[in-house]
Amino acid sequence: MQEIFGLVLSCDLLILATPIYSWYCTPPMKAVPDRLVYGMNKYYGGEKGPALWAGKPVALVSTCGYRPEKGADLWEEGMRRYCKHSQLRYLGMLAERHLGYDTVFMDREKAERAARFAAGLCRKLDGGEPAAPAPSHIPDPGHI
Ligand SMILES: Cc1cc2nc3c(=O)[nH]c(=O)nc-3n(C[C@H](O)[C@H](O)[C@H](O)COP(=O)(O)O)c2cc1C
Repeated sequence: MQEIFGLVLSCDLLILATPIYSWYCTPPMKAVPDRLVYGMNKYYGGEKGPALWAGKPVALVSTCGYRPEKGADLWEEGMRRYCKHSQLRYLGMLAERHLGYDTVFMDREKAERAARFAAGLCRKLDGGEPAAPAPSHIPDPGHI
């Protein structure tokens, strides 16, 4: 965890990538925000901060079995609130449907949406655009 802590502090963009299990991230991923929320924010009782990662940009990448708006929406909403609570800059989520292990996951459309999402993140980082409006799991070609 100490290694992750240092990497999170030094990165320009924190991307949390996880499949959705039972409407949220997997347990190993959940351990990360759980461990960082006190260590980074330094909210202890009445004492608040100084937060070590205030302003850090955060993005999400997920796969889920349901359509993303029904499969990954709770994870995104939870992380939106987490980011607000932690003074992080939420930039959006790319979520793709995975229809099962007997199907090929990757296709041209997913690759194009991923490329657009990445380009949008780069623009936001360069230009300091404000956080994307909801729902960001449906990439908006005009914005991302
Ligand atoms: C234990 C388990 C729980 C899952 N729960 C959900 C879920 O709540 N909602 C959803 O949309 N998909 C769910 N899925 C589907 C996965 O999110 C999807 O298949 C994902 O791509 C699996 O990634 P993995 O192969 O890396 O585990 C679940 C899959 C597993 C294995």
